[in-house]
Amino acid sequence: MQQQPPQSNNSSIATPDMASYWMPFTANRQFKENPRLLTQAEGMYYTDDRGQAVLDATAGLWCCNAGHGRKKISEAVSKQINQMDYAPSFQLGHPLAFELANKLTQLSPDGLDKVFFTNSGSESVDTALKMALCYHRANGQPSRTRFIGRELGYHGVGFGGISVGGIGNNRKTFSGQLLQGVDHLPHTLDIANNAFSKGLPKNGIEKAEVLEQLITLHGAENIAAVIVEPMSGSAGVILPPDGYLKRLREITQKHGILLIFDEVITGFGRLGAAFASEFWQVTPDIITTAKAINNGAIPMGAVFVSNTIHATCMQGPESMIEFFHGYTYSGHPVAAASALATLAIYQEEQLFERAKNLSQYFEDAVHSLKGLPNIIDIRNIGLVAGIQFAPSDKGAGKRGYEIFDHCFRNGTLVRATGDILALSPPLIVEKSQIDDMVNSLSDAILAVG
Ligand SMILES: Cc1ncc(COP(=O)(O)O)c(C=O)c1O
Repeated sequence: MQQQPPQSNNSSIATPDMASYWMPFTANRQFKENPRLLTQAEGMYYTDDRGQAVLDATAGLWCCNAGHGRKKISEAVSKQINQMDYAPSFQLGHPLAFELANKLTQLSPDGLDKVFFTNSGSESVDTALKMALCYHRANGQPSRTRFIGRELGYHGVGFGGISVGGIGNNRKTFSGQLLQGVDHLPHTLDIANNAFSKGLPKNGIEKAEVLEQLITLHGAENIAAVIVEPMSGSAGVILPPDGYLKRLREITQKHGILLIFDEVITGFGRLGAAFASEFWQVTPDIITTAKAINNGAIPMGAVFVSNTIHATCMQGPESMIEFFHGYTYSGHPVAAASALATLAIYQEEQLFERAKNLSQYFEDAVHSLKGLPNIIDIRNIGLVAGIQFAPSDKGAGKRGYEIFDHCFRNGTLVRATGDILALSPPLIVEKSQIDDMVNSLSDAILAVG
């Protein structure tokens, strides 16, 4: 699997006219002044518009766990689009969506054997929230409508997702129209007590007890679901303290509240197991996924639901639609084909196992950065790491951005969230490439200061 960087081809492409495209989650004007354009991808490397190889330390945007340019996936896509490009998803089906749902449930925790298809993480989250409401209503408890999210949680950008999400910048502009009846647990980032923890932080399990306080405040009979990322990725790799997720499960179970794990990032091997639920041995009622489900090849997401929720929602007259929800592209045939090919690669190459086996090396490598200027914390689990910097005098987020940009210009793609840099390489990464990532980061940190 060793993969050399592609030869620099010195064939820079002309910069496109950038006037019309309003880019997502991007400082558009800054970007267009000095763009970063990717033009090709193979294995562990992108190629940029200058023809330079860029080592992918982020699996794209937490998507490409099998690495780039996988022929098995592109051939499956090509075959399917030729055979049948699209099939309506309401009141009609096609075999691949059923086959994929069955395959997926071989990976999901026992008892979560039902799958609803979406096209993104945001849609998976909104679907899960609606399912929770659907379940309680069908179960004769329609007063259970409140949701509990967590500070710093990221659950995509739908109105449901930003309401339960806890990232201030994603909510403020829209604050007048967020969902009613949502509370937030405290986040679990505690640098004062847990800095430079390897794996799970020891301190902070008591933060789960705030859930009991919220239940006392509102009454369990009014609460539908708690939603958390088992490990927060987008807010900067924030880990659950030891025992915290188990405690959330105990409390929700005791009070008949559903527990939703948003595994859009942790799903499909990131931690060295199919799901974080498996990794931490805590089974929620619903799991949301997207991204690595099909290696990011075509937009796709899936929501895994417990058999109990499903059975409860399947009551009523058989001719009646049970869940008034779905997408034109739910279970899209081409996306389904790409997902089936992706799952086959994960299995054939034992990539989740590979991630697990590499995680110690990865941990040692990222923690070797400790002591470089301005690093105030390093966090890691599986093949994910977050490196947090003190903000520079120029303002919050500036140091993180400059290190990210320096890395990119010198051939390594890392991800910046404010002053936190995240690493989440494809699971095919080699040890030498982990070394390259860490060296590149070290050079950038020293250069930026
Ligand atoms: C945990 C989590 N949930 C939801 C989303 C939203 O996914 P999407 O951008 O596909 O809508 C993300 C995206 O990073 C995520 O990390």
